[in-house]
Amino acid sequence: MKSHDLIIVGAGLAGMRAALEGVKENVNVAIISKIHPLRSHSCAAQGGVNAAIDPEDDTSLHSYDTVKGSDYIGDEDAIELMCETAPEAIMEMDRMGCPFSRREAGKIAQRPFGGASFDRTCFAADRTGQVMLHVLWEQLVKAKVPVYEECQVLKLVTDPDGKSVTGVVVYDIKTGEVFPIRGKAVLMATGGYGRVYQSSTNATTNTGDGMALALRAGAPLADMEFVQFHPTGLRTSGILVTEGARGEGGVLINVDGERFMGKYAPTKKELASRDVVSRGEQTEIIEGRGRDGAIFLDLTLLGAEKIMERLPQIRQLCIDLEGVDPIKEPIPVRPTAHYSMGGIRTDKYGASPLSGLYAAGEAACVSVHGANRLGGNSLLDGVVFGKITGKAASEFVNSQEYRIFPQEAVDEVNKDIENLINREEWGIRPVELHTRLSSKMNAYCGVFRTPDGLAQAEEQLPSVRRDYDLIHLDDKTKSFNLNLLRALELRNIIDLAECIIKGAIARTESRGAHSRTDYPTRDDDNWRKHTIAMWNAETKSVELSYEAVRTVDNPRYVPKERVY
Ligand code: FUM
Repeated sequence: MKSHDLIIVGAGLAGMRAALEGVKENVNVAIISKIHPLRSHSCAAQGGVNAAIDPEDDTSLHSYDTVKGSDYIGDEDAIELMCETAPEAIMEMDRMGCPFSRREAGKIAQRPFGGASFDRTCFAADRTGQVMLHVLWEQLVKAKVPVYEECQVLKLVTDPDGKSVTGVVVYDIKTGEVFPIRGKAVLMATGGYGRVYQSSTNATTNTGDGMALALRAGAPLADMEFVQFHPTGLRTSGILVTEGARGEGGVLINVDGERFMGKYAPTKKELASRDVVSRGEQTEIIEGRGRDGAIFLDLTLLGAEKIMERLPQIRQLCIDLEGVDPIKEPIPVRPTAHYSMGGIRTDKYGASPLSGLYAAGEAACVSVHGANRLGGNSLLDGVVFGKITGKAASEFVNSQEYRIFPQEAVDEVNKDIENLINREEWGIRPVELHTRLSSKMNAYCGVFRTPDGLAQAEEQLPSVRRDYDLIHLDDKTKSFNLNLLRALELRNIIDLAECIIKGAIARTESRGAHSRTDYPTRDDDNWRKHTIAMWNAETKSVELSYEAVRTVDNPRYVPKERVY
């Protein structure tokens, strides 16, 4: 059987950064990724990465902005760790050769971003995630880290008493082969669950696989109801138009040409936190001041030169996908599912309560983002907690022996695949069921959540699960059977949708990205706590409990009304 002391699932920023730490600690580390690492979704992060590197800025200010942005439910110890480590993490990327945009004096350029009290977002034009990903990939190739490319993990395996992780079962997308890999620890860096939603800035690959695998293996997920809607997804495709466009001076206008954000965030306007801006936009749309479900991002005032220097990719995406040239006319945009604040519950070193299971980046809920992530803190989370978690997991494996890997785990996965492929009776196609579920998630579990909508979202779950058992695959082949892959991912999407819906119904308050029309205010007395979702293997459903927020003694973090 193949063995690696540390198995990292996912090859975005967090996964690659963690692997480099494994190399440094002399650990036998490998990465498994369902796509080529350079296609990982980190490459889609455009606008930048936050760090208090300017002498006039301060890491404590970054921490304060992040706690406030989280709507006082982020874990303050982890937030401080991230913000204090940020300058070093950026300098490390710089030394690796990351081509950040520069100021005239040669210093790394920084732009304003939402919810921040200082211009602290470092960037490389509008391709920041892409360049960071490429730089880490170079390091990984140099270190000769083995990568199982186009391999999907289908099971996180624990020892027979279910207390410790012993490895994974892998499906090789290229050949259809199923094989086990034994490990002393598994680090999930599989990104978010944006594709639970139909309109999303996320790649189609973002199906929350690592979270769902962890959930079914007995690990807790936290705060799944907090789903970030990015204010500027392109109207038609949902593709991201970076917050950097507003950081550079772009403004939001409604169909009457009115710059409306002053009504919702008098001081920061377009650069309030994302939850606030998305609600402002959605209100304009609901009240009839949008067009075709969108409002407009006006960049024309920036001028062609600035757009071509700072936002060249955005311009091309708008031309190719929306038929609009931002140099000449406003871009139709709308709030679009963008980021999963929820994830595998971990401590600030990335360890989950399931021994040997670690998580980093968007797959984890450390929790540094709480109920609302600040733009530019995601790439930061990836590199900071990739490193911290990679080190912690490496230290763990160095003190462990391999445990028993039960062969039944492989048999189970093989049986599952055979059942899906061999089903002869006619049923629903994966894409049809996914579209049905994900469109309802947008409609009922989106920017605003109504009691009736949430009830409808929950009511559909039994029929979605019933219909999943009738999935029919048109493609029965072994190699690159994407039909099968979509069906396997859909199982993850369904389990995570249940976590989101149940968490949202139970949380009778509005906080950050979770905005309930029937409970419009934040309720710190009853709800300043994390939602924990666990899988009940007998009932095959999700059960909720709660956990206290980790606070530190800092009077600046005492919750108050969040205004921008
Ligand atoms: O708007 C953006 O460029 C996205 C950045 C982020 O999500 O951090």
